Amino acid sequence: MKSLIKLKPAFLLVFLSLYASISLSADISTGEKKASLCVSCHGAKGVSSNSQWPNLAGQQPTYLIAQLKAFKNGSRKNSTMQGMVASLSDDDFVNLAAYYASLELGSAGGDPALIEKGKEKFTMCAGCHGSDAKGRGNFPALAGQHPKYIATQLDNFKTGKREGGPMAALSSNLSSPEITALSAYLGSLK
Ligand code: HEC
Ligand code: HEC
Repeated sequence: MKSLIKLKPAFLLVFLSLYASISLSADISTGEKKASLCVSCHGAKGVSSNSQWPNLAGQQPTYLIAQLKAFKNGSRKNSTMQGMVASLSDDDFVNLAAYYASLELGSAGGDPALIEKGKEKFTMCAGCHGSDAKGRGNFPALAGQHPKYIATQLDNFKTGKREGGPMAALSSNLSSPEITALSAYLGSLK
């Protein structure tokens, strides 16, 4: 420790930030154990059987961590999830996110009659969510998600119940039939 004290402050900062990132390094198997708290709703492999509960399998880890933090600090409101994360730490979030991101994306399916319409409309979303709708970084994967969950979130962005950066303005331009079609298309993807 004595030699550390002699280091220039800039070096010390680098050292400390490296240490912080190491202590937050992701551990999939620890995340899998923690996920025993989540399976009753989000499913055994992160694919849920109830359309109110989003699939988490194959989701972008950066996005998952951001959402878990948002539930914890109350900027995203849902009483069930706010209760779930209350006693979890940032380390838990990182491990849970690594675990869910490592699983295979699900496919919820969607109404075939609506899929074509939704596919056309999705061109305006692909710039952020990816042309395959698998997301990246802070942009969530939407492929294979439950259509009902997607439609609810789009409504929540529209009414301001959920804050979502660019999604507030984007969803305000979507009609109810467009939301239904987009949700069917996204749910049908694998
Ligand atoms: C009792 C049911 C229940 C349990 C248990 C539960 N969740 Fe959830 N979870 C929900 C619901 C409902 C939502 C949708 C909230 C909304 O509409 O905003 C959700 C949403 C989420 C989201 C946001 C997903 C997205 O695509 O934005 C994440 C991440 C999440 N849950 C992770 C977890 C984790 C990790 C656990 C375990 C520690 C867990 N959940 C336990 C019901 C549950
Ligand atoms: C400019 C970039 C951008 C565009 C374009 C965009 N999104 Fe998003 N979208 C985001 C971001 C960022 C989030 C995460 C918001 C948050 O942090 O809660 C998001 C979140 C979402 C969610 C919530 C997912 C979940 O798991 O809860 C849905 C659904 C969604 N977008 C659908 C769409 C659709 C449909 C379109 C096209 C009509 C679209 N987005 C266009 C950036 C974008």
